[in-house]
Amino acid sequence: MNDTKEREKMIGKLKIGSELLYLTREEVTNAGLTIGNILDLTKEALIAHGTKNHEMPAKIGVHPFREVFYHAMPAYVPRKNAVGLKWIECYPSNPEKYGLPQTTGLLIMNDVMTGCPVALMDATWITAMRTPAVTALAAGALHPDAASFGMYGCGVQGIEHCRYIVHTLEKLEKIFVYDINPRAVDKLIETVQPQIEAEIIRGENPEAVAKSCEVLCSATVILLEPLAAVKDEWISAGQTILPCDLNTYFDPATLKRADRYFVDSSEEHELFASMGYFPGGLPTISGETGEIIAKTLSGRNNNSELIVCSNIGMAVCDVVVGKEVLMQALDQDLGRKLPL
Ligand SMILES: NC(=O)c1ccc[n+]([C@@H]2O[C@H](COP(=O)([O-])OP(=O)(O)OC[C@H]3O[C@@H](n4cnc5c(N)ncnc54)[C@H](O)[C@@H]3O)[C@@H](O)[C@H]2O)c1
Repeated sequence: MNDTKEREKMIGKLKIGSELLYLTREEVTNAGLTIGNILDLTKEALIAHGTKNHEMPAKIGVHPFREVFYHAMPAYVPRKNAVGLKWIECYPSNPEKYGLPQTTGLLIMNDVMTGCPVALMDATWITAMRTPAVTALAAGALHPDAASFGMYGCGVQGIEHCRYIVHTLEKLEKIFVYDINPRAVDKLIETVQPQIEAEIIRGENPEAVAKSCEVLCSATVILLEPLAAVKDEWISAGQTILPCDLNTYFDPATLKRADRYFVDSSEEHELFASMGYFPGGLPTISGETGEIIAKTLSGRNNNSELIVCSNIGMAVCDVVVGKEVLMQALDQDLGRKLPL
């Protein structure tokens, strides 16, 4: 479908300028996007980012409590006619204190031609999906022959990472998982093992996982002071490390000594550094994830390279996936129209 037809479809379903489509979390989840769709859409978003065909200012935010942030994440991806804003919050102690997710949020989508808001949707599912898609795409580009993957943190992100990673690491045989909460490990294994062929193994401790896996990923908590739960001496040449929790879980010394330190967005990482999340300093950035996916930058140069690729989340991915959710929802008459 070309862009004009896409907009015609929208006009046929929605009175642009006088109403918008509201989608609940369940409706977003059930709009029909598969892991394959999300990987394709995220890849397009990363390529747009890597080739500078996008607009995405660094997140601005407010911080009512220490370790808590709200971020406003606007983006425009011309190739996809996707423009919008995600308003997301991260409360690391929500699960323990309130039984609520760490991360919730809303996504507003606009009509590029007129600017009118056309949709408001829950952003929890989109965040839960596009994040592992970025990790999986980066892993596939940086370490395609890996047979072992280690996942630290077995919550929402950990579960989805294990489901996504098998799509890009085709030789994967073993996935080691670790969490301080053993029930989270049980839940991940119960949920994901029936869906994938690679064997999921309960990691004994962070050290055993670090020493068993070629590719490692963390999605635990984002803290100002690094936990450094994975000690630098457990990490060896040739490993690929993909943190989703910034500078928290791996020893900052590893990030500093890596042969190359890639990030999804240099601007975002510089911003987080200015907020104090890299107390020992931001490692020297070698390039961006989108450049690797777009192949304007080389991935792994040799088998002994230690590579870190830190992805903190980009709005270009949210608006590209959100646009497709909107089009699918309109197609299936999901959600409810609200007057503006
Ligand atoms: N990079 C991105 O784009 C992006 C997007 C969404 C979430 N995140 C981050 O990913 C992290 C996980 O998010 P989530 O939604 O899966 O949260 P979650 O609460 O569902 O899961 C986090 C898991 O980490 C575990 N954990 C906490 N501290 C740990 C430790 N010291 N060692 C081992 N395990 C530990 C918890 O027990 C929990 O099971 C958060 O830091 C969140 O901010 C990043």
